[in-house]
Amino acid sequence: MKEDTKAIRGQIDRTAYREHSVPMFLTSSFVYNSAEHAERMFNGEEKGDIYSRFTNPNTTELINKFCQLEEAEDGIVTASGMAAVFNTLAAHLKSGDHLVACSSLFGNTNYIIKNILPTWGIDYTLVDASDQKGWAEAFQPNTKMVLIETPTNPGLEILDLSFLSALCKKHDAIFCVDNCFATPILQKPLLFGADLSIHSATKWTDGQGRVLGGIVVGKKEYTQPIFDFLRRTGASLSPFNAWLLSKSIETLGLRMERHCSNALRLAEHLEAHGKIKRVRYPFLSSHPQHELAKKQMKYGGGIITVDLGNSKKEVFDFINRLTIPSITANLGDSRTIVTHPATTTHSKLSTEEQESSDIYISTLRLSVGLENVEDLIEDIDHALTQLS
Ligand SMILES: Cc1ncc(COP(=O)(O)O)c(C=O)c1O
Repeated sequence: MKEDTKAIRGQIDRTAYREHSVPMFLTSSFVYNSAEHAERMFNGEEKGDIYSRFTNPNTTELINKFCQLEEAEDGIVTASGMAAVFNTLAAHLKSGDHLVACSSLFGNTNYIIKNILPTWGIDYTLVDASDQKGWAEAFQPNTKMVLIETPTNPGLEILDLSFLSALCKKHDAIFCVDNCFATPILQKPLLFGADLSIHSATKWTDGQGRVLGGIVVGKKEYTQPIFDFLRRTGASLSPFNAWLLSKSIETLGLRMERHCSNALRLAEHLEAHGKIKRVRYPFLSSHPQHELAKKQMKYGGGIITVDLGNSKKEVFDFINRLTIPSITANLGDSRTIVTHPATTTHSKLSTEEQESSDIYISTLRLSVGLENVEDLIEDIDHALTQLS
């Protein structure tokens, strides 16, 4: 079956009620036919759901669909994207280990690496996204894992997955890619040699800004320790969220095509507009890693990052003049979103840290929605006319 068919038809088995749409299994535990049956389930002789902190039919369906889309052997779902990132790190790293990570990472991931892991004796080296020499030199004998995002948030830098996976193989390190910005529709890191692919399902997978969720897929030898850690520590995804996210996957491919075609059209328009200093979008030929983006991604994604080149006051006035985009810090919604990273999502970073992630006072992140792109262009153009 082709990818879009798999995303729609990958349902769990029908129940005795012969429902067409998969029901929600809002149950904490599952019953046994006898005490002997319970014993067999607990000692692993018989497979099946025991307790929803471990597994549930709705979470199983979501995992199966994601594994199909990313061509992964196994997966885990978590209560949020951050739980997916944290459980991956916590399940695999121990005191004395060293982590190599990109200096451009989502703010909370950055916080975990800099402020939580060191208190547990886990050291780190951060490398600039495009510093190939820096990546090669960052490995130490105790390097256990490499963690990156590509495209990065909000700089939209592209990291070379094949290059990094070869380095990880050489140094026997687990290669984890936060694939949140690309989704499995645009990019499949495991096919480029990554060991684990991590998602905030809160974003494009949900697609309408309703629920939180996280997903990790990859080789079973790397997912199993995360499952074992998660089932005991409890950041499990609720059946309701899993049910909703699994339904959303049915339209993910279609939605991403429209998000990306809208984004490309808007990016080209903004680049040609005289009032914008810089437009960053991986599928614009002006993007420094345009060729690499085309090699790794099917389309350019739904995020555009622009630098207006004006003062904070002028940038805020521009945001306030927009009538269609919502001013919120989420992304990956059917509705276009405008975010000012320096004062919201990345406000906990120092100015130097922001600038090393290519975030300036006039940087704006646009998460392009599913609206008619001509309406978006008209609205943005109108707000730009009053910009000095
Ligand atoms: C790249 C990336 N990873 C992880 C997360 C965290 O996801 P969540 O908000 O679902 O915890 C985000 C959230 O914005 C993100 O952008």
